[in-house]
Amino acid sequence: MNMSANSVLASAPSAVSGYREFTLGSFNFARDEYFVHIRWPAPATGQPTTHLISADAFLRAMMRDVAWGFFYGQVNFDAVFGTTNLYGQVQLYAGAFNPAYADNGLALTETFDTPIAMATFKAILEDWTNAGFDPFAAPAETGSSWLGQKQGNNLEAIDRARATCRRMPGLPGDAPLRSDANGFPVNRAFADVDQGEPQVTVEPGFEHEVSAFNLFKFLSRSDVTWNPSITSVCRESLFCPTTEEYILPIKHGNDRVEWFLQFSDEITWDIEDKRTGKPRAKVTMRPGDVASMPADIRHQGYSRKRSMLLVWENANPTLP
Ligand code: PHB
Ligand code: FE
Repeated sequence: MNMSANSVLASAPSAVSGYREFTLGSFNFARDEYFVHIRWPAPATGQPTTHLISADAFLRAMMRDVAWGFFYGQVNFDAVFGTTNLYGQVQLYAGAFNPAYADNGLALTETFDTPIAMATFKAILEDWTNAGFDPFAAPAETGSSWLGQKQGNNLEAIDRARATCRRMPGLPGDAPLRSDANGFPVNRAFADVDQGEPQVTVEPGFEHEVSAFNLFKFLSRSDVTWNPSITSVCRESLFCPTTEEYILPIKHGNDRVEWFLQFSDEITWDIEDKRTGKPRAKVTMRPGDVASMPADIRHQGYSRKRSMLLVWENANPTLP
């Protein structure tokens, strides 16, 4: 193991697969041609415990955890491994929210300062994402080069800045609207979405305070899936609309209530108990449906066709 920049612990590339191995605290991360192997010592016995995740699913989950700065509360990569954001620190856990592990002395949780956890996760994502695979894309819109031996990288895809605004896109000095000219063509699924913009007539003196834009047009030009962008900020109220296709790569266990407003098409949500993963509900959302996602669950969405969803987040963790 080498100590490199930011104290990320990485091995030399494997002579067989070409991928590096990474270590953070007691957790070890390795990947081969198909799978990611997460290893940790079982607290009860010290015995090494190994968990496998398909590398494509792992990279899609890792991409979100990195891009969202560990998000709100729990980000479960699957039923075993995940992170809990402590805002300044982050917990990595294996089995802590899965009774088969937790009740048998196999679950490990360790806490890290956010910068070292983030540097390690970014290094993993960078090393394990091959050229031609975009972890933000729908499977129908990216290649299958996630599998096999290491071949190049895709820094452009994984270094996308998270779209966010100060108040609202389109205001002077705020985030830009999306257009062909700035690299956001209409997605194949949204060819029928009206591309007109609202006309705004402003009283003199209020030119910098009144604005409007076509949110459906904005969303029809999203180049990523399952990646909410902050599109209006009103004190602690954040509108985070997103376009969805295939499967939300994580099971999110929020630490506060959030709301979903379905704008188009259909998403099915699996709702599970946040602590145990026990199934609790299936929620099918069609256009116009609104659902509250409480803070004692984890949720994962499925969207057969690219759909538009508004995630309404509350930036104040002290509000219930
Ligand atoms: C969520 O976990 O609430 C979530 C995350 C990403 C999305 C949609 C919902 O694209
Ligand atoms: Fe959520």
